[in-house]
Amino acid sequence: MLNIKTFKTESPKQKPDSNSRLGFGKIFTDHMFVMNYKDGAGWHDPRIVPFSNISLSPAAMVFHYGQEMFEGLKAYRGDDGKHYIFRPDMNAKRTADTNDRLVIPRIPTEDFVQAVKAVVKIDADWIPSAPGTSLYIRPFIIATDEFLGVAPSKTYLFVIILSPSGAYYESGLAPVGIWIEDEYVRAVKGGMGFAKTGGNYAASLIAQVKANKEGFSQVLWLDGVERKYKEEVGAMNIFFKIDGVVVTPELNGSILPGITRDSVIKLCESWGIPVEERKISVDEVLEAQASGALEEIFGTGTAAVISPVGKLRYKNDVMTIKDGGTGELSHKLYDTVTGIQSGRIEDKFGWRVCID
Ligand code: PLP
Ligand code: COI
Repeated sequence: MLNIKTFKTESPKQKPDSNSRLGFGKIFTDHMFVMNYKDGAGWHDPRIVPFSNISLSPAAMVFHYGQEMFEGLKAYRGDDGKHYIFRPDMNAKRTADTNDRLVIPRIPTEDFVQAVKAVVKIDADWIPSAPGTSLYIRPFIIATDEFLGVAPSKTYLFVIILSPSGAYYESGLAPVGIWIEDEYVRAVKGGMGFAKTGGNYAASLIAQVKANKEGFSQVLWLDGVERKYKEEVGAMNIFFKIDGVVVTPELNGSILPGITRDSVIKLCESWGIPVEERKISVDEVLEAQASGALEEIFGTGTAAVISPVGKLRYKNDVMTIKDGGTGELSHKLYDTVTGIQSGRIEDKFGWRVCID
């Protein structure tokens, strides 16, 4: 149990107008959570302070060798006026796995969840209420030793910032166009693909820029060895509905074990829809499209929620998935996931956590 000290801001910021388009990750609340780590002392000095710049030495290790991790989850304003977060224990567990891979000291699950709840509670008035909006929660850890040798840092900073946000994609909930990348790869087994760390995203930018130039909003990565099997999208896991069966790439060490992915699998299974977690090749998807068996493609992620894919490009081919609109299952999943998150729908799985 953390003994969190709170230092409230004396100059609260103006909150965004309830009708304004929030976009994603551009506005920040009044406070942030901060906690330090030092070898010997462990994680210590947990505090909530006014949102402000962080002062670091230019030699801080995070700037040079990228020893850092981040997470993403959301808080929602329920129709009952209460405030909820979604499956924070899963983010805490994924943080532990990422930390192990990056040799960052673990934060106990209960402490991670306590810190998230505490800072969201302080800034609960910032949780937006318009449909499709939420308070995006971004926990992250950076290596802070002032040292240029390549080694794990002995000091770290754990910070949680909050951002009232709307849809992740500019297009809102409209189906997105996805570019299957056949030149660059994001991660390979044994690398850091399963971890939520900035380096994976830095590695993805070159292909994203290329895809954006061609009018596609995201990149779908292929496996790094054979360049044959689907892995995941830049900020989402990927699902295909083929002949009544929902197929998603298995967790193979190079893709992120998405929390929305896990929730979607459990929801589909509870509805009696068969789900297969396995390798799925580009050829299988092309054949399913050609035979008419490909019913839907959608991405899943905290920021993106459920994002239908309307258009898929591979080499010189651009496929329109069904009529390019939102499939029935994508629609039902979006309504159910957001319904559970905001308290509109009964939470049979015990995923919603009230912070009041
Ligand atoms: N894959 C990548 C690369 C991501 O950045 C994300 C977003 O967090 C996901 C998948 C989806 O994970 P989650 O559903 O836990 O947000
Ligand atoms: C999230 O969905 O929480 C993510 O972290 C995706 C992101 C890189 C914006």
